[in-house]
Amino acid sequence: MKQQLLNTLKPFGQEHLLTFWDDLTAAEQKTLAGQIESIDFGRIAGLYSRRNEPAESLSVAGCANDPPGYKFSTVTDPSPVRMPKPITAAEAVQAGENALQNGKAACCLVAGGQGTRLGFPHPKGMFPIGPLSKATLFQFHFEKVKALSQRYHYSVPYCIMTSPATHRETVDFLRNPPDGAKPYFGLAEEDVFIFCQGTMPAVSLENGKVLLESKGSIALSPDGHGGMLAAMAKGTAESPSVLATLRQRGIEYLFYNQVDNPLVRIGSPEFLGYHLLSGSELTSQVIRKKNPAERVGNIIEASGKLYVIEYSDLPESVAKQTLADGSLKIWAGSIAVHVFSIHLLERSAKNADLLPFHIAKKKVPFIETATGHLIKPDKENAIKFERFMFDLLPLAVNAAVVEVDAANHYAPLKNAPGNADSPETVRRDISAMHRSWLNRAGAVTAADAVAEISPLFADSPEMLAGKIQKGETFGTAVLLR
Ligand code: UD1
Repeated sequence: MKQQLLNTLKPFGQEHLLTFWDDLTAAEQKTLAGQIESIDFGRIAGLYSRRNEPAESLSVAGCANDPPGYKFSTVTDPSPVRMPKPITAAEAVQAGENALQNGKAACCLVAGGQGTRLGFPHPKGMFPIGPLSKATLFQFHFEKVKALSQRYHYSVPYCIMTSPATHRETVDFLRNPPDGAKPYFGLAEEDVFIFCQGTMPAVSLENGKVLLESKGSIALSPDGHGGMLAAMAKGTAESPSVLATLRQRGIEYLFYNQVDNPLVRIGSPEFLGYHLLSGSELTSQVIRKKNPAERVGNIIEASGKLYVIEYSDLPESVAKQTLADGSLKIWAGSIAVHVFSIHLLERSAKNADLLPFHIAKKKVPFIETATGHLIKPDKENAIKFERFMFDLLPLAVNAAVVEVDAANHYAPLKNAPGNADSPETVRRDISAMHRSWLNRAGAVTAADAVAEISPLFADSPEMLAGKIQKGETFGTAVLLR
């Protein structure tokens, strides 16, 4: 077997991966051989040699325009958006409601990231975020999908993407959630599709050699949320792919969100309606940036196509451009909430190399082959390769954005306590949104009240209004479940 593996590695100068082969147990050899066989070393060589070429989205940054889009009804900022077609909020809600009543939408959660910045040693979805209940991010998301199923009277399929880094713990947690909660927080097992994304090896920044994380295994990491496209389309002899199953169930649209944002309105009819009525294949929620350097991806238009350019890649001169009224020209910050048409995913999945790989320079611990020592680098020593789902934007027909307000849609959990976008800020934002829903429904709350409403009690201010008496008074801790 060793000789066969050497034949695979030699043309690409990667024989060092077998340096410790003779010291490994038979089981370790089997694992390493499996990893080597699953890697396309020709592709890795090509990606490494093109590492300094700019991505397509970067090459268009210089001629970036504001994207076409619509304003969600909760937005109070008066700055105009460039509407490709006049569509009112009422028309959008109606169109979205029709599609949901006909059972046409499924939901998808991407939860394969390693959440390094948060410093939580479990999948991020297991983080207890409820300001009063300590409900986890997973619980918030699952209960929203359950509420959607109840409202529209069909079993909304819920697709959860994990990675080898998060898969086992996520599956165990969802099958057996804490505090006596029902498996999958009450969704039926046959409606939950947990699928695992692929991995890519980390390579040395200096020479493109694939790194070993131990003597018998390669340093692999998740291939980015864009790995979803291939993972969803991958079936086995025993079971069809997730994408094929959605199609069999008559699904035409997929709501997509990241695990880190408990304010997301999963299954919003208004959002879906803009997607439908504008004839878009991919519609993305954005917030209006308050300053040019805000740490979100920017959705821009260039030559009739939409792109996301990460904040770190947008030239300062472009980011600072303003329109005649003084507002930012590049205003649309992506919150990574999308609706995909299933036919866009099906069409795109046919071409395995459609989504480009992005390059991230990282510090990756590795085994030095000359000494066998584990080296923990103090500066970036490696390249990781990742794909992003939003790179489907330039390929989608009539792609558009919908401006939403952060107060009602976006509070991401990214960082450890004491920073922006951390547990305290997210809990504060959940409470502020729920207090505003209570006040809108006519309830009286203490100014400093901490409020939390389970999605199963009400997942929108409209639903809450039907359950609260005008003038009803609440104390300083309001937990409605
Ligand atoms: C991301 C977006 C950014 C956007 C911001 C909004 C990217 C590259 N950037 O930034 O444009 O403004 O969210 O909050 O996406 N994930 C996987 N598999 C992976 C990697 C990530 O499933 O291999 C999932 C994570 O679990 C998470 C989501 O993708 O749910 C986002 O990943 P993260 O790395 O946290 O993105 P950000 O850099 O915060």
